[in-house]
Amino acid sequence: MWRREVTAFSGAARVAGVVGAPVRQSLSPLIHNAWIAAAGLDAVYVPFSPEADKFDAFISGLRRGSMAGLNVTLPFKQAALALADRADEPARAAGAANLLLFDDAGAVEARNTDGIGLLYALDLQAPGWAAGSGVVVVLGAGGAARGAVAALVVAGFTVRIVNRTRERAVMLAQTFDGADAMEGERLADVFAEAFLVINATSAGLEGRGDLDPPLQALPPQAVVMDMVYRPLCTPLLRQAQARGLQTVDGLAMLVGQAIPSFQALFGRPVPPQVDVRALALAALEEGGQ
Ligand code: ATR
Repeated sequence: MWRREVTAFSGAARVAGVVGAPVRQSLSPLIHNAWIAAAGLDAVYVPFSPEADKFDAFISGLRRGSMAGLNVTLPFKQAALALADRADEPARAAGAANLLLFDDAGAVEARNTDGIGLLYALDLQAPGWAAGSGVVVVLGAGGAARGAVAALVVAGFTVRIVNRTRERAVMLAQTFDGADAMEGERLADVFAEAFLVINATSAGLEGRGDLDPPLQALPPQAVVMDMVYRPLCTPLLRQAQARGLQTVDGLAMLVGQAIPSFQALFGRPVPPQVDVRALALAALEEGGQ
């Protein structure tokens, strides 16, 4: 059982949170409240789960309120961008927001820190990854993939998108210079020139006939990342490790997006002394994942 901190907060506490449906499984309250406790802030971070068709009304109710802001998770990331009064460049490029900030005038600002989280995870668990030459392969063409492609293209990488439903990959690639959609038949050729493969599908990808990543074709120094963190070591990461490849997990990305979120919500950097990854791992284990 991970250690629960008892945090006292006053009537003047700064309030922030996470909104999703479902939100029950979210690790963000655990992570942010651990940072709040370690920093000794008069603040609290709470989960919200409005009905899917009531999201806009829920946010409207918070405008000009005492809420500092909200992280946003599935299925509300696109809707969060759509309702915002202004948006940062990463949110516009990703077509989605994972952070909403409320100002005193009643305006809502959308931001996206998922791209920062992606690069943070790679830097942390595969240092030197960016020096690789060749292409990055992104598996998937949904919202998570779009965010990853946006961050990688902005960072100057050439991205090849592979998806079970190829038309979705084509549509996604059209949004970005520096990205294209791959034919399934050519997958081994594409993997042979990849220095990084990122799973951005919602599946753990255990040798599925319709999208069976040919890891054996990757160069030996390639890095394999999975944005899924339940389980932490997905079938894809297990296969990559069995091949001796470096791997990066989705929990590192979750922490990586939370760091700039905390700064934006509470106006200060995260306290370095608390190991939120260890707390999150304990919570995942306790939940049997
Ligand atoms: P998200 O916003 O989380 O990315 P999404 O928009 O539903 O969710 O996208 C899910 C992605 O996972 C898609 O790329 C989907 O492929 P399709 O476009 O063909 O549906 C992919 N996906 C889900 N289950 C999959 C599976 N079993 N094998 C391969 N790809 C899968």
